[in-house]
Amino acid sequence: MESGRYIGIMSGTSLDGVDAVLVDFDHNQRASCIETFFSPFDNTLRSRLLALHHSGGDELNKAALISNQLSHQYARAVAILLERSALAPRNVIAIGCHGQTIRHCPEIDKSYTIQLVNAALLAELTEITVIADFRNRDIAAGGQGAPLVPAFHKAMFMDSNSRRTIINIGGIANLTYLDPKIPVSGFDCGPGNLLMDAWCLQHTGQSYDKNGQWAATGQVIPALLDSFISADYFACTPPKSTGRDLFNITWLRSHLQGHESPEDVQATLMQLTITSITQSIEQFYPATETVYVCGGGAHNFQMMRHLKNALSDKKLAVTDELGVQADWVEACAFAWLARQAILKQPGNIPSVTGAKGERILGAIYSA
Ligand SMILES: Nc1ncnc2c1ncn2[C@@H]1O[C@H](COP(=O)(O)OP(=O)(O)OP(=O)(O)O)[C@@H](O)[C@H]1O
Ligand SMILES: [Mg+2]
Repeated sequence: MESGRYIGIMSGTSLDGVDAVLVDFDHNQRASCIETFFSPFDNTLRSRLLALHHSGGDELNKAALISNQLSHQYARAVAILLERSALAPRNVIAIGCHGQTIRHCPEIDKSYTIQLVNAALLAELTEITVIADFRNRDIAAGGQGAPLVPAFHKAMFMDSNSRRTIINIGGIANLTYLDPKIPVSGFDCGPGNLLMDAWCLQHTGQSYDKNGQWAATGQVIPALLDSFISADYFACTPPKSTGRDLFNITWLRSHLQGHESPEDVQATLMQLTITSITQSIEQFYPATETVYVCGGGAHNFQMMRHLKNALSDKKLAVTDELGVQADWVEACAFAWLARQAILKQPGNIPSVTGAKGERILGAIYSA
């Protein structure tokens, strides 16, 4: 396997901003993260992206213009990575850019997914080959197109002597089970941070509940938690994937009576994330020895504390202990997926997405 540097760019369902990483892969595909950069979305961009999650007037024009705007923001992040590492565009083999999801509808026979990015513009601006549109090939092969990160988790975190579950707590929470004796599996288990973020913004004006401090002032409402967890999505067996199309503020309001205190709702939303994760592990991966968390949710001190208690017989850790910092796993995954595309290697895992076979993912926009 060839060695070389790749850039991964991820902007996820939380709509918090752009994670960009410069990664060096050696011949054994060991990854060293050379440089990282986070570029936050401003409130205007965030609300325009949120609006594009629903049908609305002039949406094609708006989506095209936002794709261009995002590509400029992605290109600035690339420029900063190069500047900080004193590298030139020719020193990077390719950029793997996920783009910004505005729709994800993995329904049988009418499945589609849309990630906004003008990859041609990004290649032009950076003078680096760009790989984008990673999800559609898996969908065309009958898969969900998500989650895609389990293949990277397998490449980086599989251990011949242990059974590990990796949980990414981003906007949505997804998990991957790594047991050397059986095929890798994984799925989106439900909301990660996105409902907590939306509720927090509405009631406190803050875009997220730092360290879960606000949630800690409330009490879980058992009937509300039961109502959330009785939603069909949680009972569906994998393969399954989801997004803001299902878990959004309208979904949340449909479960409320109207008299709940905001901090109790926040505590219950945090518990929903914890319960959906722990139930998924108990049901599908009970042999897990250690659960490794990545994504922004790993910083939510209160949530991690409750998760640790809920997983009583298993160890809880963060992926930093496996050599990839929790904040950068997803972006590193897209650097790795770009490498897979360049090397003409598959990027999906059919036992995860439900695709009828392994596929090379992504479209190549040459420098
Ligand atoms: N200190 C913190 N306390 C509580 N929550 C935090 C903290 N830091 C980050 N977060 C949460 O993490 C979120 C960002 O996580 P992340 O970037 O992993 O999600 P994402 O953009 O949806 O990514 P992806 O789709 O790649 O998983 C924030 O919106 C916030 O909810
Ligand atoms: Mg993010």
